[in-house]
Amino acid sequence: MKKKVVLTKNYLEEVIERLKREFELIVVEDTGKNLHEALEENQDAEALISFLSDNIAKESIDICKNLKIIANYAVGYNNIDYKHAIEKGIYVTNTPDILTAATADLTMALILSVSRRIVEADEFVRRGSFKGWQAKLMLGKELNGSTIGIIGMGRIGLALAFRAKAFGMNVIYYSRTRKQEIERKYGFKFVRFIELIRESDVVSIHIPYSNDVHHLFNKDVFDLMKKDAIFINVSRGALMDEKCLAQELEKNELFGAGLDVYEFEPEVTEKLKKLKNVVLAPHIGSATYKTRLAMAMMTYNDVVLALSGKKPKYLIPECKL
Ligand code: DGY
Repeated sequence: MKKKVVLTKNYLEEVIERLKREFELIVVEDTGKNLHEALEENQDAEALISFLSDNIAKESIDICKNLKIIANYAVGYNNIDYKHAIEKGIYVTNTPDILTAATADLTMALILSVSRRIVEADEFVRRGSFKGWQAKLMLGKELNGSTIGIIGMGRIGLALAFRAKAFGMNVIYYSRTRKQEIERKYGFKFVRFIELIRESDVVSIHIPYSNDVHHLFNKDVFDLMKKDAIFINVSRGALMDEKCLAQELEKNELFGAGLDVYEFEPEVTEKLKKLKNVVLAPHIGSATYKTRLAMAMMTYNDVVLALSGKKPKYLIPECKL
């Protein structure tokens, strides 16, 4: 008899086909039930593949008594009560590394879009307002020679640092642990958090979310930023006080912002939608076909390993099972 795997939402067909060949696959989205109800109906499921938008709380984890793995289709896993799962001996995996380049590209795309007012310019042309070249039309901010402050020098932070350097930016960073080899090799400079906030022309966050860093970017921090700075968040929405950011942008206390994530995702603060100095993306950091396919394959491979009694490859760091 095939083992049962629950996948919360549809993802790439190629991988869904593989899962179907190997397992009895329940796709929650197709059942018309919510996750809790679908798990109640499939208590014999041995694997759960979740999305970052699924809240995998203790109550859901406890429903399937024989659950062996929760494979999150994302690098971030703050949506899972992973401590509870690990305590119960359930493997928790994610999809690190593979989405680094795609996410760093999207970050750079947001920086460029905000600094050169690309979305505003596109709208300008489409509504027929372009009447000819003008000396002061859509003046933006030049990246060359400016400073980018990267919060979190992990894989994505580093990939962004390389991209920023290629655009002629000076790179400073703040991270829990100082990366001296990176400093020596590439000249990226470690600074204190406050120093980074005060000195950067672009501030970009690349750290995981936890309660400890809830609203890391609040009014006090936004107020310390340069008046013509750009704020970028592609990590997790609750790292910033979104309402406060909208107010700062409205008052032109910042040059602009580029967001791929939102505090109450998928809800977006209404005020932000009305502002020209913010570029809004729908959480597409990893959204290239190549990356999303590779991420799906990572979840598939880890489920196969776990359900054949082996250790999955991409355990989250906290999972020492
Ligand atoms: C993730 O995988 O955690 C990212 O947020 C995707 O963009």
